[in-house]
Amino acid sequence: MELYGVIGSPIKHSLSPVLHNWAFHYLGYREKTYCSWEVKKEELKTFLSHLDLYQIKGLSVTIPLKEAVLNHVQAQSERVKEIKAANTLFKTSRGWKAENTDVYGFLKPLKDLNLDLSSALVLGAGGASRAVVYGLKLLGLKEIYLSNRTYSKAEKLAQEFDLISLRWEERKKVEAELIVNTTSLGLKGDKEGLTPWDYPFKNTKIAYDLIYTPLQTRFLAQAKKAGLITLSGLNMFVYQGLEQFRLFTGQEFPVAKAMLLLRQYL
Ligand code: ATR
Repeated sequence: MELYGVIGSPIKHSLSPVLHNWAFHYLGYREKTYCSWEVKKEELKTFLSHLDLYQIKGLSVTIPLKEAVLNHVQAQSERVKEIKAANTLFKTSRGWKAENTDVYGFLKPLKDLNLDLSSALVLGAGGASRAVVYGLKLLGLKEIYLSNRTYSKAEKLAQEFDLISLRWEERKKVEAELIVNTTSLGLKGDKEGLTPWDYPFKNTKIAYDLIYTPLQTRFLAQAKKAGLITLSGLNMFVYQGLEQFRLFTGQEFPVAKAMLLLRQYL
């Protein structure tokens, strides 16, 4: 038996076990199983010291451990070093290596649209925002604006990645072709029904929400009504999972089938 799994806290709502176990089964890996482990920050060191004992071959990493895992690996990819966060650990001949597949997950659905974008506005400056701005830099966008409720965080991230920071009240002044929501506004629970963008869309062509519960946030519903192209967090989730699966097995699962499967759980 070869074990894989996702670690973080809270973990019980993670869809990664559904995705990876389906993909293992679909591709005929009868010896591989994917679990979920509730691991808090203070438990991380102990958990990671038992990976070899339990024959664990690969891990997905989620909140709040994406930065903390970096203290416990033998190698980090270049992008992990720049983003300072990882969502994947996999075993190499030289030990455990940290990778960040959120960047690929975020970029792939955008690239598939085949649009020549030159400007973007990123809303939010938390952990998820770092992979997004790193990805937009890779795409070579000329103007990348970053706005956050707590301005000091936007300023800091903007300085680090050479972006233009905006105060939260100033965000509507920008007419970017792409708007990305990385905040928790709209997330199922007490923030459902809220939106980070309660303004008309002027030049904007694409609205991208990292949230996938619910699949259609108020931000995306309004963008759709205004005739924009919309991308939900499910796109990013499936593609970050696809790149993880490639690192774990060297193979790919069919993305359209995975989307259909996950929609049944949302
Ligand atoms: P993550 O690491 O997943 O990005 P986070 O660090 O909690 O999670 O970040 C959540 C983001 O949502 C932050 O940008 C946060 O803004 P602050 O830095 O000011 O906290 C943003 N956010 C949460 N609630 C918000 C609200 N009511 N209005 C505007 N932004 C909000």
